[in-house]
Amino acid sequence: MLAFTRLLNPRIAAIVVVCTTLVALLLFHGELHLSLGGFVGEGGSGGVRPKSLAVIMPVNDNSDLTFYKNMWVGDYLRPVCDFAGPECSMSCNEKSTWNTLHKKTVCFTKQLKEKYTDTEFFIKLDDDAFTDREYIYGLMNQYTGMKEPVYISDFILNLDRSNPSLNGSYYGNGKFYMFNRPLLDCIDTNIRYRGDRNEDAVFGAMVHNGCGPDVKKILENDSKIWHKNYTSKNKHIELNYVKNH
Ligand SMILES: *[C@@H]1O[C@H](CO)[C@@H](O)[C@H](O)[C@H]1NC(C)=O
Ligand SMILES: *[C@@H]1O[C@H](CO)[C@@H](O)[C@H](O)[C@H]1NC(C)=O
Ligand SMILES: *[C@@H]1O[C@H](CO)[C@@H](O)[C@H](O)[C@H]1NC(C)=O
Repeated sequence: MLAFTRLLNPRIAAIVVVCTTLVALLLFHGELHLSLGGFVGEGGSGGVRPKSLAVIMPVNDNSDLTFYKNMWVGDYLRPVCDFAGPECSMSCNEKSTWNTLHKKTVCFTKQLKEKYTDTEFFIKLDDDAFTDREYIYGLMNQYTGMKEPVYISDFILNLDRSNPSLNGSYYGNGKFYMFNRPLLDCIDTNIRYRGDRNEDAVFGAMVHNGCGPDVKKILENDSKIWHKNYTSKNKHIELNYVKNH
């Protein structure tokens, strides 16, 4: 380049340098733009945007993350612990037990709402459940860029007569539920209710109270969600079993 520009008069050489730089910048920008394009799962040309998914897994002393860290969800895993630790993305609740899991849920939902603003999709997975990668990538492709709140699970009607803020709302089965950023934008993390309540029911009620009837409730494909046991074609993997659950 320098040798070449020396052959030209300084004015033309300057123009050549400027043009080359511009072309390089445009190419670089194009590359950058492409890599920030729409979500394409494994096998697609766009690659996976790591920030577009967070797998939220409430854990306690009995949880073993070895399995999850070595499986596809490992890249997206955001453990919610009782105490801050190297494996924890969030810590909530000091010492949680099964009957204070609802407080842990409100706590991590607040943190997701405030801090995970770049993430488009969230999965809450129990530490004895697992889900299929292609199924999840397919859902992400399908609902990417959707403005409406999306809530994907297996829904249960809450009939809690002593809590008007919970009664009559639908909530996703806690082994697996998935939602998008617009749902976090409208979710109401300040709802009031009495007593210790099922944590997933509390999440559903926060959605119901904050987002109203406009939530797109999508029924999960149960054959893509495994709970405690994954069994298929003579292969059997027993996921970590949590006694106090
Ligand atoms: C609870 O919700 C159900 C279903 O929406 C409704 O039929 C029932 O009247 C409600 N009960 C109370 C006490 O609010
Ligand atoms: C759910 O997944 C199973 C197994 O892959 C598939 O056969 C079935 O068609 C799916 N059901 C729906 C409703 O997509
Ligand atoms: C997992 O499946 C195996 C074989 O079907 C069964 O023996 C075992 O009890 C199951 N474990 C749990 C925790 O459900």
